[in-house]
Amino acid sequence: MGKTLNIAVLAGDGIGPEIIEQALKVTKAVCNKFGHELKYKKALTGACAIDAVGDPYPEETHQLCMESDAVLFGAIGDPKYDNDPTAKVRPEQGLLRMRKQLGLYANLRPVETFESLLHKSPLRKDLVEGANFMCIRELTGGIYFGEKGREDNGNTAFDNCVYTREEIERILKLGFEYAMERNKKLTIVDKANVLETSRLWRQIGQEMAPKYPEVETEFMFVDNAAMRIIQWPKSFDVMVTENMFGDILTDEASVITGSLGLLPSASIGLHTSVFEPIHGSYPQAAGKNIANPIATVLSAAMMFEYAFDMKEEGALIREAVTQSMEKGIVTEDISKENPHSTSEVGDWLVDYISSK
Ligand code: IPM
Ligand code: MG
Repeated sequence: MGKTLNIAVLAGDGIGPEIIEQALKVTKAVCNKFGHELKYKKALTGACAIDAVGDPYPEETHQLCMESDAVLFGAIGDPKYDNDPTAKVRPEQGLLRMRKQLGLYANLRPVETFESLLHKSPLRKDLVEGANFMCIRELTGGIYFGEKGREDNGNTAFDNCVYTREEIERILKLGFEYAMERNKKLTIVDKANVLETSRLWRQIGQEMAPKYPEVETEFMFVDNAAMRIIQWPKSFDVMVTENMFGDILTDEASVITGSLGLLPSASIGLHTSVFEPIHGSYPQAAGKNIANPIATVLSAAMMFEYAFDMKEEGALIREAVTQSMEKGIVTEDISKENPHSTSEVGDWLVDYISSK
């Protein structure tokens, strides 16, 4: 039986609107196929929200997110803020406030390789083939949200990194649970040789590990993890780490799959879940119809699976994506020789889904 899906669509800045349009088309096609009713509302966030109403995450947008079953998110950020370190309001604050206000403490970033794109990886084929791990990034704590400021007439700056036991326990619990469902290996990434917060993470990890005797738990310093992602990505199954380490490691991990434009994410926690690509707003490509929409389309697949427990719907999107790659219907980041536009890729996916 068909269901009604109420989703909030936040396109954001840069390439956000173009990639969201493709993901929305695909979502509609899937809903048509399976007899679901799609109801969606758009709202402002990021630089475009600052321009329109002076706030990167307006209350109206927050209310819409709270009332919706899921949020599909594009990207935010604008070079005019990146190059102005003194700007008081920044687009990224919108994303961070959204995560905090929705209580999205866990960001799931699956790192998967595609058989037909192995030759695009900067790594040797034998190293990446079959690499598949889940990075769980803590999303509402750490240095991102600690007290920050300036002293000494602006000549000294600080960002505090704070984690509570409760924050660490809930994210590590998710890590252990994912490991139980997958290949039972958990890598807890920290910098316990230097940071006090990391020592608390490691202490709590050590306390919890005996409760999951089937899981092989390893602790790894973040610098070592960065190296291992390049040297031997297949050694990971589930990785769990704090906010900033997870931000950096997942950008690194994404390129081993062939392009930063491929990896989706799901942010889950206390209120409505948010589904967004892990890449940024790629302002240089905005409006050119060249950006890769796949990360956002795969985020829509995660939305069906995680927010609506609709596995078949998600699987159909994944199948369409795999097929599009095999047929060479890809954007210029993947094929310089024979690039397709953002909307052509979207159209192809919609046709594939509709004809199934
Ligand atoms: C991400 C992004 C954001 C982050 C930025 C845009 C604030 O890089 O989602 O990975 O650092 O979390
Ligand atoms: Mg990032």
